[in-house]
Amino acid sequence: RPGKSLVVAIDGPSGSGKSSVSKEVARRLKLAYLDTGAMYRALTWFCLQNGMDLEDRAAVEAASKALPLEVSTSPQEEYVRVGGDDVTLAIREPAISAAVSAVATTLGARTELIRRQRELIEKHHRRMVVEGRDITTVVAPGAEVRMLLTASEEARLRRRGIQLGGSQNAEQLAAQVTRRDAKDSTVVNFTTAADGVVTLDSSDLDFDETVQAALDIVDTVINHP
Ligand code: DC
Repeated sequence: RPGKSLVVAIDGPSGSGKSSVSKEVARRLKLAYLDTGAMYRALTWFCLQNGMDLEDRAAVEAASKALPLEVSTSPQEEYVRVGGDDVTLAIREPAISAAVSAVATTLGARTELIRRQRELIEKHHRRMVVEGRDITTVVAPGAEVRMLLTASEEARLRRRGIQLGGSQNAEQLAAQVTRRDAKDSTVVNFTTAADGVVTLDSSDLDFDETVQAALDIVDTVINHP
């Protein structure tokens, strides 16, 4: 379907395998790819780099507008740059993961990042896989395909290498993950599928099976509506 608009919106919690699955779906369908979580992480990095207080909502909103962000829209290469700095790896550090909720719950900053996300979708002629928490509901509710990728809490922890009932460290990590999900869901509800959104539960699927299931959903929605 060359030239035809095809936005595939994929929401879900962390640890659902969302990023790797979304990227592979984009490769297979030859679509652009956008990781919106990376944008919230980059803004968090920028605020911390500038010694800002993340509770200062007005300052975080101002930073979102000033953010000199460049994010990859290709599923073949991953990069995130802020000004002259390559922050691809830095934004995955635990310090960022711990702080990002404060930024993601700042509504003014969300408005600005959502605006940039929509701009990127248009720039790619609406041929893109976009993943995040509010893509199916807020960023691109008009997407041709909208899915919610879920996984049981046990499966999500397992994929992060956290074995429950193991060490105290594992219990702490598990609590951290659960706490972050709870914080995230105060702004956007990504645990239940909105109307018209297809749920894909990956708890009992491996990576290849999940990708295939996602491609099947795209095919069904596009070709057999
Ligand atoms: O998917 P991730 O862990 O990289 O997301 C980072 C943070 O950004 C997480 O706290 C959820 C938030 N986020 C959001 O609020 N909306 C999005 N569209 C994507 C991510």
